[in-house]
Amino acid sequence: MKGHGVAGPSLALVKYWGKRSAEDNTPATGSLAVTLGTLESRTEVTWDDRDSVVVNGSPQPLERFAGFLGSLKAGLGVVDRGIAVTSVNNFPTAAGLASSSSGFAALAGAVAALAGVPVAPERLSALARLGSGSATRSVFGGFTVFDAGATQAVPEQDEGFWPGFRVVLAIVREEAKATSSRVAMETSRRTSPYYGPWVDTSPALLSSAREALAHRDWARLGPLVRQSYLRMFATMFTAEPPLLYWKPESLALIQALEALRAEGFTAWETMDAGPQVKIFCPEDQAGALVAELSRRVPEVRFLTAAPGPGLRTWREP
Ligand code: DP6
Repeated sequence: MKGHGVAGPSLALVKYWGKRSAEDNTPATGSLAVTLGTLESRTEVTWDDRDSVVVNGSPQPLERFAGFLGSLKAGLGVVDRGIAVTSVNNFPTAAGLASSSSGFAALAGAVAALAGVPVAPERLSALARLGSGSATRSVFGGFTVFDAGATQAVPEQDEGFWPGFRVVLAIVREEAKATSSRVAMETSRRTSPYYGPWVDTSPALLSSAREALAHRDWARLGPLVRQSYLRMFATMFTAEPPLLYWKPESLALIQALEALRAEGFTAWETMDAGPQVKIFCPEDQAGALVAELSRRVPEVRFLTAAPGPGLRTWREP
């Protein structure tokens, strides 16, 4: 018997960065994110004598998964069994493309399917949180909100809400990052003098961004998206030791986008704990945007995605 889970990465427009409780993995800042279509983690699980995890064909050290698999099994009432996990991402893993969001959501769903217990999406969202905060959001499609201190995400707008909404992913480096988001956000929390102001100013940013999204208002949403990631990075640049994920091409892309906005493009970037630049833009500008950026910043690979569906799961006899 097999359990299957498929989920897309959750890309935040307004960022989760820092934990209210590390034990419960609840966020200090509320986030607003879009679940991407086209990109996905596909996870298959079977019962086994012991737990094991293979991602993209490579066996993984169990430390990052043991606690999560334990909580998942306890939550689903299947404690005394081992689980063999095989997961494949159709996009670069651990390079700041949110593979932990889709990966842990797909895993939570696959194990629930294998256990054969009906689990509501709200509960799957709460379970996925124990693997990764952003995975909480990947359970739902379209746009989602994960409030500060919350234990699950809530759907904000469905995947068809904004048909012309596109995300262009500019992949600057393919390799995995040196410092995980988990470690980096904790370093920011402990050492950056700007962490307090980051947390304090985030509720206003989130509520303005939700409103701008509800009106499909690029002109309001864009600058809020930019404020969120730059304030988040302010806590990283001023952490001890500093967290410098940016590469020269990351900054070149940010500056090229500023110039392209002045030339009439409606394109706003964000970044996560990695060097990749993710750009939100209207569908009818995506092609020209990629052409311009490729010309101005060579050696960058581009992928385009639209808002996608939430977690899909099934059981194979
Ligand atoms: C920068 O969800 O990877 O992508 O909960 O510790 O697993 P853990 O962190 P994770 O952090 C995501 C941080 C971010 C912003 C975001 O997705 O909101």
